[in-house]
Amino acid sequence: MSHSSARPSSAADFLIAPSLLSADFAMLGQEVRNVIDSGADWIHFDVMDNHYVPNLTIGPLVCEAIRPHVKIGIDVHLMVEPVDALIPLFAKAGANIITFHPEASRHVDRTLQLIRDHGCKAGLVFNPATPLALMDHVMDKVDVVLLMSVNPGFGGQKFIPGTLAKLVDARQRIDTHMANGGQTIWLEVDGGVKVDNIAEIVRAGADTLVAGSAVFGAPDNNGGYQAVMKLLRKNARQA
Ligand code: DX5
Ligand code: ZN
Repeated sequence: MSHSSARPSSAADFLIAPSLLSADFAMLGQEVRNVIDSGADWIHFDVMDNHYVPNLTIGPLVCEAIRPHVKIGIDVHLMVEPVDALIPLFAKAGANIITFHPEASRHVDRTLQLIRDHGCKAGLVFNPATPLALMDHVMDKVDVVLLMSVNPGFGGQKFIPGTLAKLVDARQRIDTHMANGGQTIWLEVDGGVKVDNIAEIVRAGADTLVAGSAVFGAPDNNGGYQAVMKLLRKNARQA
């Protein structure tokens, strides 16, 4: 898939991943098709277990159900503990990218390898208080670094401003890794991304932006989503 084969080459070249968490689950297929028609690059799929995070959402069955409607990448964000048992299930259900929180896995290196062994891109998710140093010894097994800009568990929260400095730091680590011949790594941000802050988030170094309530909270269905997606992209390009 072209989306997962090359890292965006400049700040103007980024991916927008609407989060289904804020979609209308009573009409999920239609919601997914609408948001793809509106220009989504990836579909962000939030999995919560009422254990690692205080909320409960969707699993591999729902991933499998939307797969035929989605020609773009499905970006599965696992907020679950333990992690490993779900990886084969999500790979089978059609996930393209699987990210997890290192605190939720006893053996981070093993979990990253497990994801890749199942043919998916692998990612580490950093909570606001999680230090970036956790990626140091596994950089060669990471395809996505995802910085949480809210505490995981709910859509519609406010962007934590300290994420901007953390993004700059993560960007440097990734650029150094790639300059030294390392593989492509995407830098994704999740939580509170809106039309009015996306430019500064891209400026700080993000190349992949998750947006839940900003997109699905728009009025209308298709027309509204399209307007927000256009505006997100336009503002990000002006970064
Ligand atoms: C939060 C989820 C996010 C959430 C983002 O735990 O991981 O993906 O859906 O929603 P907004 O964009 O509304 O902050
Ligand atoms: Zn998420």
